[in-house]
Amino acid sequence: MNFYGKLIYKGRVIEAGIEVENGIVKNISKRIRGKKLRGLIMPAGIDVHVHFRDFNEKHKETIESGSLSALNGGICLVVDQPNTDPPIENKESYIKRVEIAGKKSYVDYSLNLALTKRNVGEIRDIYCSISNFNPRIGEIFLYNTNKNLQVEYEDIARVKDLRITIHAEDPLFIHGDENTIPNFKYREKKAEVIAVKRLAEIGNFHFCHISTKEAFCILKETDSSIEVTPHHLLLSKEDYERLGNFVNVNPPLRDREDKHFLLENFKEIDIVASDHAPHTKEEKLEGYAGFPGVETMYPLLMALAFKGIINVFDLAEKIAEKPAEVFGFKRYGEIDIGNYANFAVFNFSALEKIKSEKLNSLCGWTPFDRFDAIFPHVVIIRGEIFKDGEILATPGDGMVYENMVYENVVCENSENNK
Ligand code: DOR
Ligand code: ZN
Repeated sequence: MNFYGKLIYKGRVIEAGIEVENGIVKNISKRIRGKKLRGLIMPAGIDVHVHFRDFNEKHKETIESGSLSALNGGICLVVDQPNTDPPIENKESYIKRVEIAGKKSYVDYSLNLALTKRNVGEIRDIYCSISNFNPRIGEIFLYNTNKNLQVEYEDIARVKDLRITIHAEDPLFIHGDENTIPNFKYREKKAEVIAVKRLAEIGNFHFCHISTKEAFCILKETDSSIEVTPHHLLLSKEDYERLGNFVNVNPPLRDREDKHFLLENFKEIDIVASDHAPHTKEEKLEGYAGFPGVETMYPLLMALAFKGIINVFDLAEKIAEKPAEVFGFKRYGEIDIGNYANFAVFNFSALEKIKSEKLNSLCGWTPFDRFDAIFPHVVIIRGEIFKDGEILATPGDGMVYENMVYENVVCENSENNK
């Protein structure tokens, strides 16, 4: 099917038709006619940081419910994190999970591999045995509640040539009981700053959810990539008053100044990602850390664009183009000839308030209740209309990202690379 409307194309808004063949954009031209899409056609988002739980934590989220949330919020591809129960730390569990995703996911799906004390000796072989899935190692934790996934700087140094995503918080500056509320009193800013400093000396990595001005400035001087979450752009310690016992998230909410700094420097961020980390209301009351966010990220940021706080070109770059580039997702990213026809269509007259009861995550709450948002009314993935007012896709319509031609020098000599 072909489409027609106003779209973001090479840094401009143009009105044109989009010819689609086998899910791929074949041509973009004023002469092409097709289904008229009202509003602004943006590239569908890529959320490189979600925790879709499932396995033994189906009460919080499943691949099915999490990916439905993603689709409703204009996300066409997610990168799921391996701190599941049990964790993804070997080839068997990795394959098992991508097989489930292939059957259950509404959107395209990619999975990372955990680095643990148990698998550090063989991580390279495991990584290479699944390299066709274009994985990364991570989210790597230097601090982890039950130490299950906790590793040290030296472990990271051993695998620094692999593609890595790091959660940078140094355990030396994290005090007290993990679930103490509010956790921003017990997890110092210094935990992030020191970890980032030490890691920057080891190599270049993808740093998820950078939350402090200091860490941000250190990383800007390196070739590492910087990810920032919507909650660190929009919330701060002051929100404790409103969120109460739901306030915990790692890294924690920071000072108002950090929030303002990150938003003012939106252009300098590489990637926005949600760190969608659902816990039920009951668990939140006990201090579990994490916010859901995959469904609200694009809508919240579109509302910021509507208000002129950020612009749609920067947003397209941080939410689609850079994630595809940094993570090496071929045919994803910007709207362009040769790429998949992955679009999220937004209507600027559709500004609304987020209502937690209308969201699809099993966790049943959001820290952004009543925040302004613009949800995409149409979402197109690989040329198919997945959402048109209502959800039209079914579980399994998402595709597990597999790139058989992925050239990975690190794995070329590996026995297991097949
Ligand atoms: O708040 C968080 N929750 N931060 C993390 O790094 C992990 C996540 C989770 O999995 O719950
Ligand atoms: Zn995370």
